[in-house]
Amino acid sequence: MKDRILQLQEEISHLTAQTLEEVEALRIKYLSKKGEISQLFNDFRNVSNEEKREIGQLLNVLKNNAQDKINQLKEKLEANRGNVEKIDLTRTAEPIQIGTRHPLSIVRNEIATIFSGIGFTIAEGPEIEDDWHVFEALNFPADHPARDMQDTFFIEKNPDILLRTHTSSVQTRVMTQQKPPIRMIFPGRVYRNEAISYRAHCFFHQVEGLYIDKNVSFADLKQALIYFAKEMFGMDTQIRLRPSYFPFTEPSAEMDISCNLCGGKGCPFCKYTGWVEILGCGMVDPNVLENCGIDSKIYSGYAFGMGVERITNLKYQVKDLRMFSENDIRFLRQFESAY
Ligand code: PHE
Repeated sequence: MKDRILQLQEEISHLTAQTLEEVEALRIKYLSKKGEISQLFNDFRNVSNEEKREIGQLLNVLKNNAQDKINQLKEKLEANRGNVEKIDLTRTAEPIQIGTRHPLSIVRNEIATIFSGIGFTIAEGPEIEDDWHVFEALNFPADHPARDMQDTFFIEKNPDILLRTHTSSVQTRVMTQQKPPIRMIFPGRVYRNEAISYRAHCFFHQVEGLYIDKNVSFADLKQALIYFAKEMFGMDTQIRLRPSYFPFTEPSAEMDISCNLCGGKGCPFCKYTGWVEILGCGMVDPNVLENCGIDSKIYSGYAFGMGVERITNLKYQVKDLRMFSENDIRFLRQFESAY
């Protein structure tokens, strides 16, 4: 009997419980009328007189310990439950700092939304390209300076594999793969071998556009560009087109918008001209259409291309181009409220 008491003593000192139900089960197991300890008290009657004193004491200690232990377990669990109830579930959550969209992504998305409003869809292409898609198909003469090592990054000294210098290469891909009508914009990163400064970088971003169908005219181009300029910079924005040259468009033009900082009156930003240049455009050269397998006697088209950094500068007056790629959190956090 003594051994059994000591064994239970040991057992009870190690009891644990996760819930109040478990505590109750332990109480029943040890202390209820039919519990193990009560059983021992029943058996106590049969203990010899010499042992009665010693065993009696041990039994009382065991019973007290069991009682204490079970009370302790119960109190601990009830105290925890109290804590849970003290949590105020109606309190507002801790503010979670979420990231911000990059200003260039914000502006690229805005450009895409504006053009999708007049039926343009989006296509993307590889940044590592071949000469044909970037230059040859786009009517660049073999000795055109843009093919020069100065402007183009070539990959592993292979003059055929290069980093695209404009997203017109995606236009080439689409024109060779799809039949007109084609009405698409091409956002993406481009690379040019330029010294990095506050106003030039060796990579930047473009959104180019292409529309090819029967009877597409320069008037259609102008209409789309006026729409874009007003949507992007406000209804008061004026545009002007200046004759220009690109190998892949004929005629070609550059588009200025009335300076959105001074409203066209003249300020340091527009160098007191009242105008700022934002994109290049023109009618797709028939040679380019033919190079890509599109019959230039049936189809005509226009194309345009703009730098996303430039548009972003106009919207947010970012003075130094390098800030776009430095990932300074203080710069990026300023765009928190934009989408
Ligand atoms: N691809 C030209 C550039 O990168 C931009 C452009 C696109 C001009 C389409 C005219 C038409 O500078």
